Amino acid sequence: MPAPTRHPTLARAFGGKWALVTGASAGLGEQIALDLAASGANLVLTARRADRLEALADDIHSQYSVETRVIPADLSLPETPQQLYDATEAAGLPIDILINNAGFGFLGKFQTGTPEWDRQMVTVNCAAVVHLTHLFLPRMIERRRGFIMMLASAASFQPIPYMSTYAATKAFDRFLGEALDAEVRQYGIRVSSLCPGPTESEFGQVAGMNSSAFRRVQPAQPVVRCGLLDLAGGKPTSYPPGSGAFFFFLERFLPRTLVTRVLERGLRSAIPNRPE
Ligand SMILES: NC(=O)c1ccc[n+]([C@@H]2O[C@H](COP(=O)([O-])OP(=O)(O)OC[C@H]3O[C@@H](n4cnc5c(N)ncnc54)[C@H](OP(=O)(O)O)[C@@H]3O)[C@@H](O)[C@H]2O)c1
Repeated sequence: MPAPTRHPTLARAFGGKWALVTGASAGLGEQIALDLAASGANLVLTARRADRLEALADDIHSQYSVETRVIPADLSLPETPQQLYDATEAAGLPIDILINNAGFGFLGKFQTGTPEWDRQMVTVNCAAVVHLTHLFLPRMIERRRGFIMMLASAASFQPIPYMSTYAATKAFDRFLGEALDAEVRQYGIRVSSLCPGPTESEFGQVAGMNSSAFRRVQPAQPVVRCGLLDLAGGKPTSYPPGSGAFFFFLERFLPRTLVTRVLERGLRSAIPNRPE
């Protein structure tokens, strides 16, 4: 992962604060952790792969003068958000920045996926996000400061055939984030939903995408930098490079059924051939 440099706006907003980054063991979460560390934020890093989190913490300590804590945890388990909250409270770490990043997808015909995979996707991408936000937001309101990032997606703007559950979870995240931002601005808290298009990470591999379906990807660094600047600047929705913001604008003038059917045609040839 390339080391980000300190940005003055990010340092002013985030420096000296504690951030909880979910899904910090890879991809966008790892890059977000590095960029926050470069801004002087202290970090609680969580994901399932403890070795990856420890390696990231070592990397951060070798480059930046910030504190880190590593808490390996599985967000597909319903008790995990409470355990994460209890661990930060017990350690006396005031979390002022909550990065709801952990998530994954699936590319393929709905019937070739499994109910268990989809259940875990909905739990990690949506239920855990709601639960963590419920736990950490009240303390932010008490302190009259805080930042919450929702990792939504370019997939949150329309239904996506062959990624139907995933796109629905991301629409959920964006709507939750945008509504919450309007609610909690009055307390000095900012909520921003980052909507990347295809971005370098392990996402494609986990979702079972072949390379042709995921050929043009953005590097994670500019995507993350844009998301953090928009979070610091109080933008409810963040459109990073490669997100296709212009198409989302155009789509407003087209019937959604038409857009969805066109997408279905485009994606049909890209889906993996799995037994039905
Ligand atoms: N890459 C893209 O093109 C793209 C585009 C738009 C939005 N996004 C969103 O960006 C977020 C990050 O994805 P990414 O692209 O960075 O993918 P990634 O490289 O696969 O990273 C996903 C992260 O989520 C964590 N995670 C997955 N399942 C988990 C679980 N059950 N419990 C705890 N942590 C879990 C993974 O850690 P462990 O496996 O170690 O648990 C990993 O750190 C996701 O919400 C995704 O929807 C990605």
